[in-house]
Amino acid sequence: MPMLVQGICHRWLILPRASREALMRGYNRRLSSPTESSLPMYTLARQLLFKLSPETSHDLSLDLIGAGGRLGLNGLLCKAPAKMPVTVMGLEFPNPVGLAAGLDKNGAAIDGFAQLGFGFVEIGTVTPRPQPGNPKPRIFRLPEAEAIINRMGFNNLGVDHLLARVAAAKYKGVLGINIGKNFDTPVERAVDDYLICLDKVYAHASYVTVNVSSPNTPGLRSLQFGDSLKQLLADLATRRAELAQRHGKQVPLAIKIAPDMTDEETVQVAQALIETGMDAVIATNTTLSRVGVEGLEHGDEAGGLSGAPVREKSTHTVKVLAAELAGRLPIIAVGGITEGKHAAEKIAAGASLVQIYSGFIYKGPALIRESVDAIAALR
Ligand SMILES: Cc1cc2nc3c(=O)[nH]c(=O)nc-3n(C[C@H](O)[C@H](O)[C@H](O)COP(=O)(O)O)c2cc1C
Repeated sequence: MPMLVQGICHRWLILPRASREALMRGYNRRLSSPTESSLPMYTLARQLLFKLSPETSHDLSLDLIGAGGRLGLNGLLCKAPAKMPVTVMGLEFPNPVGLAAGLDKNGAAIDGFAQLGFGFVEIGTVTPRPQPGNPKPRIFRLPEAEAIINRMGFNNLGVDHLLARVAAAKYKGVLGINIGKNFDTPVERAVDDYLICLDKVYAHASYVTVNVSSPNTPGLRSLQFGDSLKQLLADLATRRAELAQRHGKQVPLAIKIAPDMTDEETVQVAQALIETGMDAVIATNTTLSRVGVEGLEHGDEAGGLSGAPVREKSTHTVKVLAAELAGRLPIIAVGGITEGKHAAEKIAAGASLVQIYSGFIYKGPALIRESVDAIAALR
């Protein structure tokens, strides 16, 4: 049996018997109901996947998307988005809608995601050494709010493993690699971890994202402010100049920020990015706010909140950045896109590209095409 089929079968078999039975009952019911069998395929898949714990469903989905990618099947699952080429950071994107970091932390399903129609794929966050992340459970769905709370804590198999997956992928499009620090590296030495990752991924990435905004690694967000930020960016810029010389190519650096800063702090970040010669800003990561999920089941879990409740905050951050940057640096907008029109709102707010995570979980691959269409309609 091919390894990938074995892997999927294994995941299926290790599910508790009650979960497997519930899934099959749901599946058979859908098949025997003529009205419901005509529901879009993802609606059915979601009904099945949402019966599992969020993390089991995440792992299974990644296996399936990865397997479909290796077999070249994922393009059959949904109509391809319209072609909408854009050039940003000197890179050519077939469309402006990308996969946000965190869904494919280890680069396990690069081909699979690309075949679903994403205009670019960002993998990671990856750290120099493998680490298990926080104890489970650590992802929570809040379907009433189209939201997710996670405190994964950069669980990943380390940068060397990720690079092996990149080497195995056939994808030739725009690949972002998102880098972070190990949880046990003191924050005063964080720069060492970013430089280790930058050195290793440089030759293999279309662009590199420096993640200083995850709320789940203690102290990480302090790197977004004042001298800590300036020092980190200056060190990255110096190392990038050396790497550009060595590899004969200038790989763009993007900095990913949180939505929880004051406008003044966001403006200071924008100024630091310009001063140090960074190439893009990604706005935003998840929020610590719980506005929009108060009183909901899991609404008070610790971690970062994403999906619909972060939309306004993220878009506000994009607007503040756009006003300060005035076109000198492109903005990649992410946060709360659950319908095509939200992607168009981000572009109207000043972004050049968008990314999706939670909306993909709730709406599936059709959201990619819907977002491309909505952005195209702005033109
Ligand atoms: C379960 C989960 C894990 C995530 N992991 C990462 C990560 O490793 N690195 C990162 O930069 N962002 C990570 N994110 C943040 C997303 O990339 C995105 O910035 C955020 O969720 C807002 O977008 P959304 O509302 O479309 O989900 C994660 C988000 C979720 C829900």
